[in-house]
Amino acid sequence: MNDVEGSLLDPETLECPFPFFRRLREEAPVCFRPELRAYYVTRYQDIRTVKKRPDIFSNDIFEKGGMRSAAQAAAEAYRSEHGWARVSTLQRTDPPTHTLYRQLVDKAFTPRRVRTMVPYIEGVVNDLIDDFIKLGECDFVRDFATPLPCTVIADQLGVPRSEVHKIKVWSDAMLGPGGHHMDEAEALECARLVVEAQHYFAEVIEDRKRQPRDDIISDLVHAEVDGRRLDMHELQDLLDQLLTGGNETTTNAIGSGMMLLLRHPDQMRYLRENPDGIKNFVEEVLRYETPVLHLFRVTTQDTELGGVPIPEGSMLALGYAAANRDEAVFPEGERFDVCRHKAGAHLSFGSGPHFCPGASLGRQEMLSGFRILLERLDDIRTAVPDERFEHVPHSFLRGLRSLPIRFNARC
Ligand code: HEM
Repeated sequence: MNDVEGSLLDPETLECPFPFFRRLREEAPVCFRPELRAYYVTRYQDIRTVKKRPDIFSNDIFEKGGMRSAAQAAAEAYRSEHGWARVSTLQRTDPPTHTLYRQLVDKAFTPRRVRTMVPYIEGVVNDLIDDFIKLGECDFVRDFATPLPCTVIADQLGVPRSEVHKIKVWSDAMLGPGGHHMDEAEALECARLVVEAQHYFAEVIEDRKRQPRDDIISDLVHAEVDGRRLDMHELQDLLDQLLTGGNETTTNAIGSGMMLLLRHPDQMRYLRENPDGIKNFVEEVLRYETPVLHLFRVTTQDTELGGVPIPEGSMLALGYAAANRDEAVFPEGERFDVCRHKAGAHLSFGSGPHFCPGASLGRQEMLSGFRILLERLDDIRTAVPDERFEHVPHSFLRGLRSLPIRFNARC
């Protein structure tokens, strides 16, 4: 069942997991991976099957899965003592509980609301470009891909611009122990930063209780679930998910998009000449360099997937990045092609009840970002001699460490 040698956590595989994913897809599309203590699912249709049965493949992985390492357990204990312990809302719940929380966040980023945000997002994009355009060079990850989503989510939450830099530090800490191999001291440092964020948001929450504003925290504080207001644990958990969901993913997608343009100058030229194609380019970037490599589910009963028996209580990793190159759905899936037909059929935002509620916002940030970058920057080229761009080693997120570029200002 598990005869594909190697590990998903080998440094080489973390840097470029796609050859390994291909072997898994072809040789063992559902197989137990001891390095993750989970069954890894790599074929598109198998993931769609899982998504249709939340009753069998549950999101409640903390309660039912029990997959914490010693370092994670220490970090959780620190949070409980000094801040607010993790509770299961939204991403860690199944319908019908999930539906109650989901209604609250769905209101925040409907496609219609995101359409009204376009001039605002374009303003943030232009401000960021203004800050580096005269230099003729920048670290694209540090100076653009990171601050764009951080600024947008901070503004939506009602966090002042002066605190934007903290948003990145906090969301890194929130994601840290789940994705990096940390020792206890590192996990505790992340927990300390998470608790710092929680106390910051607790003050904002109390403020919005007294004086509501036009921001998401005010909406959440005054919303009702099942005829009652959310308590502080639930509010903290939802904010954690909005911060982590809205930042790193979008940063990684934007960074990957620029890397792919640098690697495919002919396709960059095509997009300059055909800016209407940027919409499809965004989908192809999300497919080809899937920002969330996989997410977990836990089985609530003995079951079977792709012909493989899976016992109750097993963890499953849904390999979105692997499925996004499945040749059964994406012909020549290993090829990057901004004109690809049905590129948007990717699973990068998941599917089913947990489909990413920030998808419209993430897409719009990429769309506005690349449209304006290609308008304002000419002759974009890499500033590092080697074409090899290094990724942050993370078990389930894929993003570049940095991306130094040079360019000529157009206007
Ligand atoms: C390119 C950008 C993004 C990508 C690739 C992405 C990806 C994902 C994925 C794969 C999921 C899980 C789906 C599943 O379990 O089936 C998810 C859920 C979620 N995302 Fe995103 N996301 C992005 C942007 C955003 C933004 C901008 C926000 C908020 C502002 C956000 C907030 C969330 C939340 C709150 C969830 C949990 C939803 C639930 O469990 O019902 N995401 N996202």
